[in-house]
Amino acid sequence: MTGSTSDPTAVTHGDRLDHWVSSYATRARSMTASEIRSLFAVASRPEVVSLAGGMPFVQALQADDFADMVAALIRDRGAVALQYGSGQGDVRLREQISSEIMTPVGIAAHPDDVVVTTGSQMALDLVVRVFCDPGDVVLVEAPSYVGALGVFRAYECDIVHVAMDDEGLNPVALEEAIARVLASGRRPKLIYTIPSFHNPAGVTQGAQRRSEVLSVAKKHGILLLEDDPYGLLGFDGPYVDGSAPRAIRADDADGVVYLGSFSKTIASGLRVGWAVAPHGVREKLVLAAESAVLCPSNFSQLTVSQYLATQPWTEQIKIFRELYRERRDALIDSLAALMPEGTQWTVPQGGFYSWVTLPEGLDSRAMLPRAVAALVAYVPGTGFFVDGSGTNYLRLSYCYPEPERIREGVRRLAGVIEGELELLNTFGRTPNASNTKGSDDLVQTPPTNLL
Ligand SMILES: Cc1ncc(COP(=O)(O)O)c(C=O)c1O
Repeated sequence: MTGSTSDPTAVTHGDRLDHWVSSYATRARSMTASEIRSLFAVASRPEVVSLAGGMPFVQALQADDFADMVAALIRDRGAVALQYGSGQGDVRLREQISSEIMTPVGIAAHPDDVVVTTGSQMALDLVVRVFCDPGDVVLVEAPSYVGALGVFRAYECDIVHVAMDDEGLNPVALEEAIARVLASGRRPKLIYTIPSFHNPAGVTQGAQRRSEVLSVAKKHGILLLEDDPYGLLGFDGPYVDGSAPRAIRADDADGVVYLGSFSKTIASGLRVGWAVAPHGVREKLVLAAESAVLCPSNFSQLTVSQYLATQPWTEQIKIFRELYRERRDALIDSLAALMPEGTQWTVPQGGFYSWVTLPEGLDSRAMLPRAVAALVAYVPGTGFFVDGSGTNYLRLSYCYPEPERIREGVRRLAGVIEGELELLNTFGRTPNASNTKGSDDLVQTPPTNLL
């Protein structure tokens, strides 16, 4: 349909492919698909070793036992499991979260303080919905979780990155960032942090670091949003016996909203996560959840609840930890053996990711098509920043491929990096190196399986 300029009521679509493009809300402008999506469509072919996606290895679950449990659930409690439920979440599951899942991270939460959500991604969305107006400043780590950046962008927040070091969020840099924002006449609304086994940086805040970060937040009265989907998946250093890092919220129930998830400890497909929040915040979150989805899936919640009640879930987490430790070792050992000089990486003590710094002058986004052609995929660093930085970083995930495939993937990647270095040494730059500073197309949303 093409509008006529003489008729003011006519809708002008011109020859646009999307006829509704001029009708979208302002916030939808930041919801755009990444140009690297098409590359990742290729990267999901079986011949490509994907070190890109952060998918938990759910094949390690006892499928038959799970199936029997779900069948029994439907048979015995189907009328509840298949029905609408409460906006705040199933009360028995909230009790289990409080009494069993929160204890290892040191949180003593009443079940009333827990809000069950459709994955912790939804909890993130609800917190931002409740706290942030367009233009509000949120402080996030540099780099930060792509899915959180997507939420902050969707609510039109002003995202300010804060430097990290090998212990995660740097409290001095945090203090400086807050001072800069205050000097501009604004107050940050939230500090968003992933203290344990960071996505994508692979680092963990120690106890001292956590208390410093908390002190800065408290001093300025800024709400801390603690995102902890990987806390129970530590396998090394102080976490070698599976002991989880103590949550920041354990030391300040009033100043911290804690987000948890069953995606990595049970199954991401169930889409069950939760928030633990101060009383007043919790009430707002429930109202926001009801307007978004009425209630989280009763079926999924009862499945999780039944799983916790009847299956050896702590043993299963041990199995996951051991599996991910073995894959982490395969990744780190082969990086050490094969990567060209000048390449660096973090050695995670848990979780799914290692953050790689390329030799100077290389651009991970420009290199991606050549990596995919060499049958290996990763996520370029630029996806984890909103300001166009990150070109010489990339994220590698070791959670999904078998160790042998990981080794092969690193071998291919090392070959690609060697090739890039050769081009750089010959021509002074690599082909298509993105002149990316400030470029807006870097912060678009990748496919969900890359989060
Ligand atoms: C840091 C972080 N937060 C939140 C999420 C979302 O997890 P969920 O599956 O619970 O929505 C992820 C998923 O990868 C994540 O890495």
